[in-house]
This record gives sequence, C-alpha cells and structure tokens, in this order.
Amino acid sequence: MQKTLLVAGLALLLSTIGYIQNQQSVDEVSMVYEGFKQKFQKTYTSAEEAYRRSVFEQNYAKILAHNADPTQTYQTGVNQFTDLTQDEFVASYLTYTPPEGWQPSDEEVVQEGAEPNDSVDWRSQVRIKNQGSCGSCWAFSAVGAVEAFYKIKKGQDHNLSEQQLVDCDTTKSKGCDGGYPDIAIKYIASHGSQTESAYPYKGVQQSCKSSTGSVKVSGVSNIAKSGLQAAIKDYPISVCVDATNWSSYKSGVFSNCSKNINHAVLAVGYDASGNWIIKNSWATSWGEKGFMTLQAGDTCGVTQMAVKAI
Ligand SMILES: *[C@@H]1O[C@H](CO)[C@@H](O)[C@H](O)[C@H]1NC(C)=O
Ligand SMILES: *[C@@H]1O[C@H](CO)[C@@H](O)[C@H](O)[C@H]1NC(C)=O
Ligand SMILES: *[C@@H]1O[C@H](CO)[C@@H](O)[C@H](O)[C@H]1NC(C)=O
Ligand SMILES: *[C@@H]1O[C@H](CO)[C@@H](O)[C@H](O)[C@H]1NC(C)=O
Repeated sequence: MQKTLLVAGLALLLSTIGYIQNQQSVDEVSMVYEGFKQKFQKTYTSAEEAYRRSVFEQNYAKILAHNADPTQTYQTGVNQFTDLTQDEFVASYLTYTPPEGWQPSDEEVVQEGAEPNDSVDWRSQVRIKNQGSCGSCWAFSAVGAVEAFYKIKKGQDHNLSEQQLVDCDTTKSKGCDGGYPDIAIKYIASHGSQTESAYPYKGVQQSCKSSTGSVKVSGVSNIAKSGLQAAIKDYPISVCVDATNWSSYKSGVFSNCSKNINHAVLAVGYDASGNWIIKNSWATSWGEKGFMTLQAGDTCGVTQMAVKAI
C-alpha cells in the first residue's frame, strides 16, 4: 500500500515537473513569436493569426534542431521569413529563371590564379538593401554590381535606383516577377541610372517614371567559371544561385544546395579557404548582417552565371 502511494506520488511529481518544463517552452516560443512580430512589424488578420503562428512554431523548432546538431557547418535563425512555408518563400522571393534552354554545367572548375591563403573582402564597400516581397533580386544584383564598380574603380559613392530597373527595364525582365542582372547592367550602360533618392524603391512595379540617369557604365562582361575569384579581386561580381534552402540561414559556411538557379546576388569576396562572401538583398536581419558565406567551388551554382559592370 505504502509502495503504491509512493509510486503514485512520484508519478505526480514527475508529471508536474514535465508540465512546468512544457509550460516554460510554450512561454518561450510565445515570447520569441511576439518579439518576431514586433521586430518585423507583422500584422495578421485574426483569421490568419493561428496559421502564421503554427508555421512560425514549426520553423522555429527546425531552427533549434538544426542549431543543436554539431555536424552542421552553418547556423540558422529567426528572421523575416520565419512565418512563411517553404513554398511561400520560394514563390515570393526566388523568382529568377535562367534564359530558356540554359542548363547548369556539372563540371567543377579550378579557380585560375588563386593563391593559397589569398583573400578579398569588399563588405565594407557595399550597401545591404532590402528587396521586400518583390522578386526584384535581379535589379539589386545589377545595381550592387554598378555601385561597387563606381566605389572601388572610380572612388565614387553612388546609392542607385533598383526601382527604375523594376519599372523601366521591361524588354526581358518582368519587374517583381524576376529578371536578368546582365540585361539590367546593359540598361544602365545605355540609359544611365537614377539615384535611390531621386527614384526611390517601392517594391511594386509601377509605370516608368524616368528612363535616363546620370550614372552610366560602359557595359557588361561575362566571367568564366574559372575566373570568378580573379574577377572579385578587382571588384564585386553579379552572380546567380540556387537559394532554395537559404531562408533561415544565419551564419557559417553554407553548402546545402543544388544548382537550380533561382536568385541573383553579389559576390563580394572570398576567404583564405576560397569560400565565397555573398551580399544578399534581404536586409541586415538575414544572415551575417545581410551577408553569407558559401563553400568554395561551384556551391549553389555560384560560378555559372557571373557578370561584371565595366
Ligand atoms: C595557409 O593556409 C594553410 C591551411 O589553410 C595553413 O596551414 C598555413 O599556415 C597558411 N599559411 C600562411 C602563411 O598563413
Ligand atoms: C540609399 O538612399 C536612400 C534614399 O536616399 C536611403 O533611404 C537609403 O538608406 C540609402 N541606402 C543605403 C543602404 O545607404
Ligand atoms: C538543408 O536545408 C533544408 C531546408 O532548410 C533543411 O530542412 C535541411 O535540414 C538542411 N540540411 C542540412 C544537411 O543542413
Ligand atoms: C535543400 O536541402 C535538402 C536537404 O538537405 C537537399 O536534399 C536539397 O538538395 C536542397 N535543395 C536544393 C534545391 O538546394
């Protein structure tokens, strides 16, 4: 009898501890969720709230599990995308589609002229911007390439307009539904770019307000797969990548990807191991203050479609 009581008492005690621990983690998730909504100014309709919270909770659980795995080379974290499903993230943000008939090449190429322990880092020379929920990565990649060309080659600091490209460069590109960095750089070569303050970013496609601008480049030049590292020595390069698994990236060396190119960014350096330093257009809240480290080689297809402003 006494033994039964003891067992029952013990069971009650254990379940109480379990309850308290559960309550603590529920409260912790609530706190993180409320902090997330505040930080990213998320407002949901009451019909949407429960759904967004459940998506957030699932993503948050994946983030914690990923970060607890000591074999991972990169860490994940909460950012503006944590309330989106994978499908929603891909549909709104990864709008780049390669030209028709284009296929990634599988051969791994050796970077020409790469010296051991060589490294280049242009992070302090570039701006992290935010494309918002408009598929305009192509415009940010192109403007990033032109701004960096001016800053590093000519010593001129220009904050240029992505919105002008979204609105006006419409021969092949489709505003917020994707476009081409190389064609956008050509647009700036023939028409000139407005400044960001004169033609500010709206994150939606509008009618073209001005198809000329005072900042011009001579043109655009393709970079061979084996020449990316050498090219970055001069100044940052527009590259296209497979960003399917990038949504919760926080820090570290990333290589969890294939080569289904769907996003455009700017390669702004490489470290002593040849890992690429990438500038994204998802604000400073994403990744390493807006940047990312991609494993050396053709990770995420980074060497496949590289171009520079000249
Ligand atoms: C170059 O890098 C290798 C390995 O990455 C390291 O062992 C070596 O000490 C480095 N050499 C110099 C001069 O930094
Ligand atoms: C670029 O210029 C715009 C408009 O003047 C300004 O709001 C924005 O902060 C600038 N962006 C950066 C990253 O410097
Ligand atoms: C790769 O990314 C996916 C999507 O974010 C994630 O579910 C998976 O755990 C990651 N795999 C590795 C090995 O990091
Ligand atoms: C995303 O991550 C998963 C899990 O590691 C991987 O199998 C898949 O190839 C990745 N997908 C893409 C398109 O990068």
